[in-house]
Amino acid sequence: MRKNEEWKKKVAYQIYPRSFMDSNGDGTGDLKGITSKLDYLKDLGVDYVWICPVYASPMDDGGYDISDYYSINPMFGTMEDMDELLAEAKKRGIRIIMDLVLNHCSDEHVWFKRALADPDCEEASYFWFRRTDDGNPPNNWRSMFGGSAWEQVPDGRWYLHLFSKKQPDLNWENPKLREKLYEMIRWWLDKGLGGFRIDAITHIKKEPTLASLPPDGPDGMVGCFAPTRNYPGIGDLLTELRENTFDRYDCITVAEAAGVPYDQLGDYIGENGYFSTLFDFTYSELYNHGHTWHTCKKAWEWPISLLRDKMFASQLETQKIGFGAVYFENHDYPRACEKFIPHEYQSPLTQKMLGTLFFFLRGIPFIYQGEELGMTNTVFESIDDVDDISTKNHYRISLADGLTPEEAIKAVNRYSRDNGRVPFPWGPGKNGGFTTGKPWMKPHPRYLEFNAADEAKDPGSVLNYYKKMVALRKSEYPGAQLTLGDIAPLLLDYPDIIAYKRIKDGREVAVVCSFSPCPLSIKADFAPGEVFIANYEKPFEKSGENLVLPPFSAFVCEMTEKC
Ligand code: GLC
Repeated sequence: MRKNEEWKKKVAYQIYPRSFMDSNGDGTGDLKGITSKLDYLKDLGVDYVWICPVYASPMDDGGYDISDYYSINPMFGTMEDMDELLAEAKKRGIRIIMDLVLNHCSDEHVWFKRALADPDCEEASYFWFRRTDDGNPPNNWRSMFGGSAWEQVPDGRWYLHLFSKKQPDLNWENPKLREKLYEMIRWWLDKGLGGFRIDAITHIKKEPTLASLPPDGPDGMVGCFAPTRNYPGIGDLLTELRENTFDRYDCITVAEAAGVPYDQLGDYIGENGYFSTLFDFTYSELYNHGHTWHTCKKAWEWPISLLRDKMFASQLETQKIGFGAVYFENHDYPRACEKFIPHEYQSPLTQKMLGTLFFFLRGIPFIYQGEELGMTNTVFESIDDVDDISTKNHYRISLADGLTPEEAIKAVNRYSRDNGRVPFPWGPGKNGGFTTGKPWMKPHPRYLEFNAADEAKDPGSVLNYYKKMVALRKSEYPGAQLTLGDIAPLLLDYPDIIAYKRIKDGREVAVVCSFSPCPLSIKADFAPGEVFIANYEKPFEKSGENLVLPPFSAFVCEMTEKC
C-alpha cells in the first residue's frame, strides 16, 4: 500500500525552466526565477510543480541529456538556488517534482567519456557498445529522433542511442550501474523532493540479441518500439528500482510510460505498482501517424469521437486499476488547441472548453505553463527560430521529401514542440516581462492578448477560469466527486460532444463539452441542477425536453433525475 494517497486530490503544474522566468537578465529562465513566481503558483492553487531537467547538460535535447546528475546546469543557477527553491516551495505547501532521466545520459557524462577512452573500463559496460565486421551499424533500429539508433566512435565501436546521438542509452543489465542510479535518486529524495516525473522509462529494457527486424520504411530501418519499449523483463528492473528508492520516501512518481498495454496497467500503477501514476499517451497523440509531420492529417481532421473514444478507453481501464495523470499539453507537444480546434475557432472560449474537458477527468491534472493563460501555438518564420532537435530533424526530412522551405516551415508551425517552449508571458511589457535581456527564444507574438498580469485583472480570462477550476476540485462538494469519484461517459450519441459524469457517495456531477461550432440541441437523460462552472453565462437553454448548447459550450453541473 502506498503511504500517502492525498496526492489524488492535488493539482500539478509543469514548468519548462528555460522559458518560465529569468531572474538575472541573461535571457534564460532559471531557478531563482521559478522561486520568484511561487506566489503565482500558490495563487493558482497548485500543489505539485514538475520542473523539466535542470541538471548539468550540454542541452542537446533541452536538458534530457544529463552530464552530471548531481549538479545544476549553470544556465539555471546553483545547487543553493535549488535548495532555496525547495525551502520556499515548502513554506507555501508546494512540493517540487524533478524530472528523472534514467534511460540515457549525455555523451558528455564522465561515464561515457571514460568508456570512450578505455573500452575495457567499468564504465564501458554502463552503455550498449558493439563492434561489427562489415562497417555497418549492429542492427537496423531507427532512433526516435530519426536516423540510425547507432553511432560509431573513433575506435570503430558503435553505441546505441534511442534518442539523439548525444544521448547514449544506459545498460540497465549492469547491476553496478543500477546501484549508481539508485544512490543518486536517494540523494535527491533526501533533499525533500515531492517526487519524480520519470522520463522514457519504458525503454530501459532492450531485446537482448539486438537483432535487426523487418524494415518499416524506405530507409531500410525499423522503429525501435517493439524491441525496446515495455520489453518483457522490464518489470524486474522497475520493481528493483522502486524498492531501492521511491518506496523508502514520502513521494509520488509519475511515469512517462508510453506503450504500456491496458492489461499491464496493474503492474505499473496498481496497489503495488512500480509507480504512483503514469501519463497515458493514447488520446493526446491522435495525429502522430506517417513518417513525418507534413504527411500527417491536421489534428482537427480526426473526428472528435476518436478523441472521445480513446480518452474514455484510457479512463475506464485506468479506473479499474489505479489513478491516472491527466494532461492535454506538455513540453513535447504543440498547444492543445492546435490539436483539437480549427484555427478560426481558437479563442478564450474554446480554451476554457478544452480546459474543462481535461481538468475533471479522473486523475491528477498537470497544467502545462501557459495553458492557464490560453496560449496558442507561436509563429516560426524560419527554422532559425527553432531550437528543438526533433523539429530540426522533421524539417530536414520534409526538405529531403521535396518540400520547399516555406512548405516545410508550415508543418513546423503546426507540430513543433517548441510551440510550448516560448518564454512565459508575465505581463504586457517588453518580452512579456520574462527577461530584461534578450530572450533565448522569441516571445509569442500575441503576448499582449494572453499574459498573466492582464489576465489576473480580467474576471473573464482563461487564467481566472483555471483558478475557479482548481478551487472547484478542492471544494468539499463537488470536489470529492470531481477528484476521487468514478467516471462514466455520457451523451455518447452525439459525435461532437464529449461528456462524462463523476460519481461518489451517491451524488453525480456532469461535465459536458461541445466541440460544435454551431448550436447543438441535445436530449440528455438527466436534468442539469446547479451549474458549478461554465464558459458561458448561460451554457445551455432549455427547450422542451432538450437542452440547446451554444457553440463550444462547456459546463460542470449537478445531475438531477429527469421528471
Ligand atoms: C521524453 C521527454 C522529451 C525528451 C525524450 C528523451 O519523451 O519528454 O522531451 O526529448 O524523453 O529524453
